[in-house]
This record gives sequence, C-alpha cells and structure tokens, in this order.
Amino acid sequence: MERRCPYAPPAEYDRIRAENPVTQVELPTGKRAWVLTRHEDVRAMLADPRFSSDRANPRFPTLVDNTPMRAAFKPSLISMDPPEHGPARRAVVGEFTVRRMEALRPRIQEIVDQAIDDLLAAGEPADLVTHLSLPVPSLVICELLGVPYADHEFFQLHSGRLLSRDTSPEDRRHSVDQLTSYLDKLIVEKEAAPTDDLLGRQILKQREEDNVDHEALVSLAFLLLIAGHETTANMISLGVVALIEHPEQLALLREDPGVTLSAVEELLRYFTIAEVATTRLAVEDVEIGGVRIKAGEGVIGLSNAANHDPAVYERPDELDIARGARNHVAFGFGAHQCLGQNLARMELQIVFDTLFRRVPSLRIAKPVDELDYKRNATVYGLHSLPVTWS
Ligand code: HEM
Repeated sequence: MERRCPYAPPAEYDRIRAENPVTQVELPTGKRAWVLTRHEDVRAMLADPRFSSDRANPRFPTLVDNTPMRAAFKPSLISMDPPEHGPARRAVVGEFTVRRMEALRPRIQEIVDQAIDDLLAAGEPADLVTHLSLPVPSLVICELLGVPYADHEFFQLHSGRLLSRDTSPEDRRHSVDQLTSYLDKLIVEKEAAPTDDLLGRQILKQREEDNVDHEALVSLAFLLLIAGHETTANMISLGVVALIEHPEQLALLREDPGVTLSAVEELLRYFTIAEVATTRLAVEDVEIGGVRIKAGEGVIGLSNAANHDPAVYERPDELDIARGARNHVAFGFGAHQCLGQNLARMELQIVFDTLFRRVPSLRIAKPVDELDYKRNATVYGLHSLPVTWS
C-alpha cells in the first residue's frame, strides 16, 4: 500500500481501522499475517510476551525472504525473546541513557555544524542526504561504536541493500556476508587491543563477567550500525521536507527553540518510518481487539496506522508540532522499544535547530511529489533531497 501526499499513510489504513481493525493480509512472500491498525491493539501486542520477536523462525511474517539473515549469525537483540533478551539488552542499555547521550551533545553539534559547512560549500542545488542526513548519524554511530568512518560508503551501500525490498536474496546474502566479515575482523582487532568505545567496552565487560562471546558482539555491532544511521537519516530528510512544506509550523520552531523537542516527537509520529519493525509471531493463542490469533500466526503491528488512530490523535493526518505527540509507537513499545531513541531524538533536535537557524532561506529544489522517496524499503525515507538557499 502506497503512502499518500506522498507521505501520509495509505488511505487503506483508515478504512481497515474503521471497518475491520484486526484483519488478515497476504504478504509479498505469499505468507499470511494479521495486521493491527488501532493504537490500543498495537501497544497491547507489543507488551505481550506471548508474541515472539524471533525473526529466524521460518514462520515469522517478514515482508522479504530473510533466509540470508537467518543463516548468517547469532540472533541480535531485536530478534531475541526471554530469557535471552533481558540480559543482552541490560548489557548495552547503559551506553544509551539520556545522561550518556547528553555527554555526546557537544560532539554531535560539532558534527552537524561541519556537515552544514560542507552542504553550503557544495553549492546549489546540493543534496541534503549526501551532505547532512546520512553523514551526521553515520559519523555519530561510528564514533560511538568505534567503527572507522572512512568505511562509510561500504557499509551504507550494504545496509541500503538490506533495507530495500527490491534486493534479491543472493544480493542480500552477499551484503550480510560482507558486513559480517568486516565487523568480524574489526572486533578481532579490538579483542587484541580493546579501544575506548562501545565495542571495546563490551569486550572488557564480557571478560569481567566471564562471558566472552565474539559472535554475539558481531551481531550486536551489525544491528547497531544498520539501525543507527539509516533510520535517523531518513527522519532528518523527511523532517526537513515537512517543516519547509508547513511554514507556519517552521515559524513556531524558529520563534522558540524550546518547541523543537515536541516537533521531533510529532515528526516521528507523523512519518512513523519503521512501520513494520513492530512485527511478531504468536507463540500461544491470544485474543487481540476481540480477534483470536492462534499460536504460529504472524502479526504486524502497523505502527503508522496506530500513530494515525483518531481515537488517540485528533486530526491525525495534520502535522501539528505543538500537539505534544505523546505515546506514539514510532520507536515501538514494550521490551524491544528502540534502544537508540535518546540518541535519535538528540540528533534530530540538533539538526533541525541548527539547520534552520544557519540556513533560514533553505528551500527544496523540486516539487515534493517528485522527490525520490524510498517507496520499497523497510524504512521509509528519501534517496536524495535537492535543496537551495539563496
Ligand atoms: C528497535 C525505530 C534509531 C537501535 C527499534 C524499534 C523501532 C525502532 C520501531 C522496535 C523494533 C521491534 O519492536 O521489534 C527507530 C527509529 C529511529 C531509530 C524510527 C530513528 C528515528 C535508532 C538508533 C539506534 C537504534 C539511532 C542505535 C544507535 C535500535 C536497537 C533496537 C531498536 C538496537 C532493538 C532493541 C531491542 O530489541 O531490544 N527501533 N530506531 N535505533 N533500535 Fe531503533
């Protein structure tokens, strides 16, 4: 189902939610799955341990053939269930606390300023994705993990392929192999001489706890590297488009930078770019929204439909940065709620504040409905965003 406008949720979501909010659909892989469209039902499902995140289970309702991911390595955090998930998440959650992220603020500000300098130096029209949206979160996650940024073209290429639904299973396998062997080598080096970064600290922690697990570290690094840059990059590009397209909203943000935090929440809700990340497999029979879902059946908690549920958000298809968009599920909900959300929020806040302050005349160089949207990707966004400013 295609987004409208081109970025409002598909019209079908409203129809399904109104007529038959828990319904069965056929996926591109030929599998069948339930979709949940109400905010209440999506949150109930994500908080219920009778739904598994085990993406390696052949019955898991993925939108693409994920066999290469299954075969490649140990399940990462996002695919774990209890009892493994809790301890694995606790081992790394300390790296992403609000306090930890606040300590990164000055460096993130520096990275954003440098990216804006590069954008302006590139001359008009410049591609915002190449100069700002991608480099900012990529550089931040590289520094946090201890991955050399010099290799960014390599991992951006492969993670882009993994997130596209058009990639063939062979190419997917190839990208998984490339990224895995790259990270495997990097972690071997760090094991020989632990560095002061997230991966280095995890190595020391594993040793202290007598819990050394090289494979687990490779799969954690894989997940964080991919989850840590594409998502935020897409939100930067889409956020810039939406704010420029809604000048009255942008004016509010310019008048009072205190509004940026609530603008970021609203943009996250409005776009809900990772709408199918919140997918599960029932391991017992469960009733959701009055419908009996049987053990072994897949369920997609359509977070974009949930975040546009009129029972929770008035005028849900309107962008309203002052609405205080609380309780949205753009970062998921429950045990697997996004580990990097504090980092993503901070990056978005710094980018929007700094970009519109430093480049007040920023404009999009093409009609918005002609932009190159990621229509067939697991995470929605923009491939490129030409901008001008004089
Ligand atoms: C989980 C969205 C940024 C790391 C999730 C989930 C969503 C999500 C919806 C839940 C998946 C599920 O329920 O199965 C987003 C969005 C982002 C973003 C919209 C940016 C705007 C980041 C960043 C990082 C990150 C910057 C890392 C630095 C993770 C990890 C998980 C996760 C590790 C799995 C957590 C677990 O299973 O316990 N994200 N994410 N994300 N995200 Fe994010």
